[in-house]
Amino acid sequence: MLSRRSFLRLTMTLGGSVLLRPLLRSDSLPTLTAKAGGSVPDLDITLKAEVKSVQILPSGGPTTVWQYTATRNAGSPDALTTIPGSYLGPIIRMTRGEHFRATFFNQLPGTEETSVHWHGMHVPDTMDGHPRHVIKPGETYTYEFTVLNRAGSYWFHPHPHGRTGPQVYNGLAGLFIVSDSEEQAAGLPSGAYDIPLVIQDRTFDANNQLVYSADTDGFFGDTILVNGFPNANMNVEARSYRLRIYNGSNARIYKIAWEDGTPLTVIGSDGGLLETPLTYDYVTLGPAERVELLVNFGKWSGKTIKLRSLAFSGATPAFNNNSTLPNGAEFDIISFTVGTNPTPTPAPYNVYLPLVQRQGRLSTIERYDVNDAVNASSPRTFTLYRTRGQWTISGRTFELTATAPDERVQLNTLELWEFANVVPAGVRGINNSAHPMHIHGPLFQVVERIPPTDATQRANWETVKDGYVDSGWKDTILLMPGERVRLLIKFHDYTGLYLYHCHLLEHEDMGMMRNYLVQ
Ligand code: C2O
Ligand code: CU
Ligand code: CU
Repeated sequence: MLSRRSFLRLTMTLGGSVLLRPLLRSDSLPTLTAKAGGSVPDLDITLKAEVKSVQILPSGGPTTVWQYTATRNAGSPDALTTIPGSYLGPIIRMTRGEHFRATFFNQLPGTEETSVHWHGMHVPDTMDGHPRHVIKPGETYTYEFTVLNRAGSYWFHPHPHGRTGPQVYNGLAGLFIVSDSEEQAAGLPSGAYDIPLVIQDRTFDANNQLVYSADTDGFFGDTILVNGFPNANMNVEARSYRLRIYNGSNARIYKIAWEDGTPLTVIGSDGGLLETPLTYDYVTLGPAERVELLVNFGKWSGKTIKLRSLAFSGATPAFNNNSTLPNGAEFDIISFTVGTNPTPTPAPYNVYLPLVQRQGRLSTIERYDVNDAVNASSPRTFTLYRTRGQWTISGRTFELTATAPDERVQLNTLELWEFANVVPAGVRGINNSAHPMHIHGPLFQVVERIPPTDATQRANWETVKDGYVDSGWKDTILLMPGERVRLLIKFHDYTGLYLYHCHLLEHEDMGMMRNYLVQ
């Protein structure tokens, strides 16, 4: 599935190489020919995980972080950018059909093994950053794949078993944003008006250094950062923006709303644009989930407006929710200082919603039909509970390469899966935590949610459920205690060993992760 652009480039390169070859030194020849079985990368980068020092807090000294840094070997300058002053890694921007290559160097200290996982991207299993493919310090690994995903806000982060939580917490995360022709045709705000916002929570000691403990119920920092900045403020024009909001936190859930109660216009989720914009009073975003908003700042011309996280309950076991900023507390996320009038840009502030309304839709989502699932009458069910001191998936914890019989699926089949945040009958266990469940490989569609039956769990669920954005393509899905979710997933394009796990990183590190095998 090559885009027209990369197809043309490939043709020109191959055609030109005959004439140019005598004029070139031999060390530049490899870039002129397509690799056997591969493609010429549209973006070729060198990516490092390394120790850096970044000024995060406004006073006191800099903070030691681990950071992804990158340099571009081939490709357009727009395809690799950074957020100036941030500890976050680069923003990679690619178009569907293009080919990507990253030569990765692990320059982390000591014996810190790592891998790079392209969260939400559908790639061959050897390119997925699986813990069985970890890279030792001082070693290198080449990640290379064609971008099959539709346009969307994806990301990348480490995935070694047992150490993902501390590595992400120390700063290792970057963005992978995909565009395609359908998205471009939607005419959404672009360039400087298309802004990713990564929300994370951290705790700093008296010397401004990061504090982390692998708490079994998740680590909750007391300082909210957006794109790596505390007390974040952004100056915006009085016009429409596209905000790509990422929950990049280890464990914290956000219940996102405007401080003045203005409804949110949601246009996208994990796997890109929804079919039509949807209006929400608040959006519930579990770890690793994304939501895209279309915001008309013209409404607040000359004012300041805050995005906040509202109160909710029951996502974290009460006795362990003892951070100075517990999960479910209320706080400000970011404030926007809005300019006084629409600037003389070609698009006035209010142009986008009418455009979308005229077109009637943002994108086309081919709907799976539950009747087409090979197991339509009996979902493949995974239960989420804690037993013998461990968070488990159906009573199991992570094994590096093993799969159980109910963790094997067939290529090109559509399946109905159910995650159930319940303790199965006859089993001794507890289900007092929310779990953001993530499946590697293909994205999925949500069929239905079945609310908790227990009255207390039901009441807690009521505090977040109106914020679930379930109508688009998803790769991560939040389940409150007692809740069940049914989804449809089709195993297309690649066979191999992929992960499914809780994306609350402390749960994942302690083994709430399993493999499934596409045969
Ligand atoms: Cu974002 Cu398996 O992870
Ligand atoms: Cu993933
Ligand atoms: Cu979990």
